[in-house]
Amino acid sequence: MPSLKANINLQPFNTFNIKAKAANYLAFSSVESLNDYFQAYAELPFLVLGGGSNLLFKKDFPGTVLHNQILGIKTQDLAGDFVLVEAGAGENWHDFVQWCINQGFGGLENLSLIPGKVGAAPIQNIGAYGVELKDVFHSLTAYDIQNRKLIELDSKACDFGYRYSRFKGDWKGRFIITNVTFKLSTANHQLNTSYGAITKALAPKQTITIRSIADAVIQIRQSKLPDPIELGNAGSFFKNPIISQEEFDRIQAKYPSIPNYTAGGKYVKVPAGWLIDQCGWKGKRFGSTGCYEKQALVIVNYGAATGQEIWAFAQQLIASVEEKFGITLEPEVNVIGD
Ligand code: FAD
Ligand code: EPU
Repeated sequence: MPSLKANINLQPFNTFNIKAKAANYLAFSSVESLNDYFQAYAELPFLVLGGGSNLLFKKDFPGTVLHNQILGIKTQDLAGDFVLVEAGAGENWHDFVQWCINQGFGGLENLSLIPGKVGAAPIQNIGAYGVELKDVFHSLTAYDIQNRKLIELDSKACDFGYRYSRFKGDWKGRFIITNVTFKLSTANHQLNTSYGAITKALAPKQTITIRSIADAVIQIRQSKLPDPIELGNAGSFFKNPIISQEEFDRIQAKYPSIPNYTAGGKYVKVPAGWLIDQCGWKGKRFGSTGCYEKQALVIVNYGAATGQEIWAFAQQLIASVEEKFGITLEPEVNVIGD
């Protein structure tokens, strides 16, 4: 029977730097230890923890925090210019991306410097600078808690969408991702420089490579997102809302400068950061929380904020955007303790 640690402080394990406790805690580095755990403690509520960079603890967690530490990277050459790269779910995402770039494997460079672990990346289909995980995803292995065995899932099964996968839908709480496999290129890379800011950062460069894209992305991110080591945060607090073309036209008639991206069909994605900024919240501080000065979509913890305080502040932002634009923002961050 695995021995659980009791009453563990989760503050070092969440990038919001919120004080919260887990009734029990188990770090696991193999499927065997997961099996042992569920055989002994199937009835306890559990929370799988990666790097804690997309979590907000509103309360202490009354069950077991299962902390993923499964490591290892394996490669398998494919015919043509491709390679399969499988990473343990406990690998640090950014380090893994840099390792791939150093091997000359292309595909993940635009996703440099996203905090967290490999195993959480499929959960919300992480995305940045014109690329989403699904674009280079091959398959994943997950521990099925219901049947207590490993299962392999492909992209179709995962049903990836914008900041969405089936793990956030009807599969919530059913699987623990243990490994993720990516299909990357070894030559003739399809470089993606479509995102405006990247094109700008790369303009003076002669040859564009996977490394120069990664460097540009790192530089842009460092210039507008707070480093969680210095200022607690979980990146974008809300998802960018996707609204109908008619609703967009109505808003654009009043606010002609509203940035927008096509979301397929008759839908338009608008930046939540712009909406919050227009409501005047950017850089405003209230006690220990507030909106980051360079990006209104990032709620920060100046040091002593509680999860409840951050949540209450987020509700004010929702109400304000609702009132001005008639759009209801939805959290991207996973809220624990609802
Ligand atoms: P955690 O926060 O530990 O967990 C997130 C969720 O996934 C939880 O529900 C957890 O239970 C579940 N989970 C974690 N691991 C597993 C597993 N192995 N099996 C099953 N469930 C699991 N995200 C983007 O998409 N794009 C960005 O550009 C981006 N930028 C960010 C910038 C900053 C400064 C910060 C702080 C965050 C940013 N994020 C971004 C959000 C975050 O980094 C990602 O969502 C990341 O994938 C979360 O990884 P994690 O290991 O920290 O997950
Ligand atoms: N904007 C403002 N004011 C602000 C913030 C943004 O006017 O305070 C405007 C910008 O000028 C720009 C637009 O809004 O025109 C979009 O801003 P930005 O390029 O910073 O990107 P974003 O839409 O706010 C999204 C992701 C980020 C990802 C970046 C880059 C979501 C919810 N967020 O942010 O992901 O890194 O694009 O691709 O989709 C995360 O998920 O945690 C995250 C950081």
